[in-house]
Amino acid sequence: MAVTSAQIYGWLERYAGIVAEQKQYLTGLDAAIGDGDHGINMDRGFQTVLVKLAPVRDKDVGTLLKTTGMALVGSVGGAGGPLYGTFFLRAGAALDGKTEVSDRDLVGALEAGLKGVVERGKANPNDKTMVDALTPAVEQAKQALANGAPLEQALTAAADAAEKGMKATIPLKALKGRASYLGDRSIGHQDPGATSSYLMLRALSDSLATLPQRATTTTTTT
Ligand SMILES: Nc1ncnc2c1ncn2[C@@H]1O[C@H](COP(=O)(O)OP(=O)(O)OP(=O)(O)O)[C@@H](O)[C@H]1O
Ligand SMILES: [Mg+2]
Repeated sequence: MAVTSAQIYGWLERYAGIVAEQKQYLTGLDAAIGDGDHGINMDRGFQTVLVKLAPVRDKDVGTLLKTTGMALVGSVGGAGGPLYGTFFLRAGAALDGKTEVSDRDLVGALEAGLKGVVERGKANPNDKTMVDALTPAVEQAKQALANGAPLEQALTAAADAAEKGMKATIPLKALKGRASYLGDRSIGHQDPGATSSYLMLRALSDSLATLPQRATTTTTTT
């Protein structure tokens, strides 16, 4: 089974739409424990991504993801933009030149992206950041593939794990980023970056489950 450039483009386009729809929600979460710009940042970033992807949308998956990363780094300031930028740059570097990506390579690219976020932001698990959604998602996806699950199932498990990780940020005290300035007052609020990361993984799982043009070599259960 292989994931194509068209499917990856479909994911990025879908996520840009979700970010636009959820802009107020994400900004509201950030207003509670940050500076109220996360939705605005992500929407500005992903609108730029759509513009930059247009001329390269038929290129390899690595190019699509690296273009996404560069667009985010170039258009979003603060903490979130560079962290998301790093995620996509690293994921893209892992898939350089590939127009079709195996299940394992795709999950490997997500893992490389997460590694980049951790290296750049130095967040530990339970610091109340996007890492708390991404880490269990990557773990679940890897485990599902290792157990022989098809990619769709692995990515659904990843999105479910990210959702759980996102919700689990609510009782945590923030130890990184702006929210950490609040100390105990950050407790009781869901982390905005963990929320946008969850939405990103759900968009991935949904877009691969619904797009028809897979280069399929095995039967799939959807
Ligand atoms: N060091 C970090 N590692 C991982 N994620 C982080 C880190 N710092 C912040 N984040 C994530 O970034 C999110 C905030 O993103 P946002 O787009 O609002 O940037 P910002 O923190 O407001 O940037 P700035 O402080 O420069 O305005 C947080 O909810 C958290 O998930
Ligand atoms: Mg903010």
